[in-house]
Amino acid sequence: MCGIVGYVGDRLAAPILLDGLSRLEYRGYDSAGIAVVESGKALTVRKASGKLSVLVESMKGAAPTGFSGIGHTRWATHGGPTEVNAHPHTDSNKNVVIVHNGIVENYLELKERLQAEGHRFTSETDSEVIAHLMESLMGRGLVFEEAVRMTAQRIQGAQAVVAMNVQEPGTLVAFRLGNAGGITVGYGQREMFLASDLPALLPHTSQVAFLAPGEMVSVDAREARFRSVQGAPIHKSPQAAPYDAVAIAKDGYRHFMLKEIMEQPGTVHRAIGGRVSFEPADVLLPDFPFTPAQVREVNRIVLTGMGTSLHACMVARYYMEQIAGVPAEIDNSSELRYRNPILDSRTLVVSVSQSGETADTLGAMEEAARSGAKQITICNVEGSQTTRMAHGTVFIGVGPEIGVASTKCLTGSLAALYLLATYLGKVRGTVDQARMTGLLNDLASAPRLIGQALEQREAFGRLAHEYADYYNFLYLGRGINMPVAMEGALKLKEVSYIHAEGYPAGEMKHGPIALISKDMPVVALAPRDHLYDKMRSNIQEVKARGGKVLALVTQGHHDLAGVADGLIEMPSTPYLVSPIVNVVPLQLLAYHMALERGCDVDQPRNLAKTVTVE
Ligand code: G6P
Repeated sequence: MCGIVGYVGDRLAAPILLDGLSRLEYRGYDSAGIAVVESGKALTVRKASGKLSVLVESMKGAAPTGFSGIGHTRWATHGGPTEVNAHPHTDSNKNVVIVHNGIVENYLELKERLQAEGHRFTSETDSEVIAHLMESLMGRGLVFEEAVRMTAQRIQGAQAVVAMNVQEPGTLVAFRLGNAGGITVGYGQREMFLASDLPALLPHTSQVAFLAPGEMVSVDAREARFRSVQGAPIHKSPQAAPYDAVAIAKDGYRHFMLKEIMEQPGTVHRAIGGRVSFEPADVLLPDFPFTPAQVREVNRIVLTGMGTSLHACMVARYYMEQIAGVPAEIDNSSELRYRNPILDSRTLVVSVSQSGETADTLGAMEEAARSGAKQITICNVEGSQTTRMAHGTVFIGVGPEIGVASTKCLTGSLAALYLLATYLGKVRGTVDQARMTGLLNDLASAPRLIGQALEQREAFGRLAHEYADYYNFLYLGRGINMPVAMEGALKLKEVSYIHAEGYPAGEMKHGPIALISKDMPVVALAPRDHLYDKMRSNIQEVKARGGKVLALVTQGHHDLAGVADGLIEMPSTPYLVSPIVNVVPLQLLAYHMALERGCDVDQPRNLAKTVTVE
């Protein structure tokens, strides 16, 4: 969602802000802007609707020349993605300027009060109220930093804000409330940076500090001073950033999405490596937070997440039941958080969030914490919010994922969840040494099998050419590959904007079959497992109604050649590992369909990489 950058130092701010914003483009946005102030001069605000390139173009030869500033990429919530609604926003007199991520839930009430005081609003956003509120508080005699702190106390909801004012251009003040994305402070030599995410900071510094919810920071070119929004001083020292900037480059690939699909043999290997030994076979989770007695008292596992991470949960239900031997259920986090779920200290809540910042997942985790449930989170970002909330984390460890449509984080999450289930099974006695050896050997085959699947990469360009003009797709799967069908459909709609639905194949007769025609291709996952015959019958039913079928099958072990219209042949894969491998061709299909249709693969319209609002 919204990206935030800030700079104060002795270099020109505008190029640094624009470069920082370009490194946050992957988050998804619909307009952008920067504000720069020079000592003793007026504030310059430049904004543009659309891509960052429009803003950059509009500033060619006329960039503001100050040495401190803030910038923002906006993902619209209140008010359309227009230039006026783009951030930064100012107060009536253009003294205070802010950028904001989140939603000011009481903005209408605050706006009415401020309008009655004479404040003139120009945008339709909730965010603008923040600048006016700061102006109003300064008008009552508060110094800027105090006005920012009081503002943090008066606005409701989860937010991250960076503010600047023309009287003190060398100081930026930021705060974070709840979980609407982070604020990271980057320490340079006689310069300081602020950003919602690490990629914007890494070209300049690897020394960083993170704001926790309820904290604020005041930075100038020399130092950062932290306080709670209640006013208590907080001591924080910079730490080494966990990411490597090199890992964020495209490595010669045309898109991050393709790079991230192609690197999955290596990333799945990384997700497994270091956590398994083979002589004898064992899973090692050194920071696992619960004692064997606590693991044995667990009587239910609730898996929760959003989007692709929810699909990881759906697969992991099989892992928790079949490997760890614990009844497991799945819940969409946005539903779980408001359902008054029945959870207690014997429930293990496993949340999955690659970013660790998804608002609904954090809400569900808060609900779980209130009920005293045990919590493990699966996450790709060290220091992120979910990792601070859960009792323990199994890191995905696949390196930064930049493409908005999640690919390598899914396969990495599945590997992490498989290891977690195996570990739980070992402690609970459902996984003996022989089974441990079998399970880990199966998982260890995943990188090689993904590599084999990727060898057919060229074929997906041809398939996409054949299929890209259809408007609707149905994806069908059974058993552990049913969530893979749902993920395939999600990938297709995310990046190519083609309507696609994923269904359990058995559900097809209960409605979707009415849609079957030659105009709606069906992508059917039919690997040679114990459900193959049932899947084959479903494919026959589609064909009998004039449907077009693209079937994913196991190499050499199927009899669909004369039945399906197209085949994607996959290596034979152990059942529990099969989702990690079978999802890869569906990622490639979606990618090539998007290319064929001329879509912006890495930054699909309306989507955000990290959804920090509900
Ligand atoms: C957004 C992203 C998806 C992601 C989902 C959950 O919708 O576009 O790719 O799966 O959020 O994100 P999380 O960071 O919690 O895994």
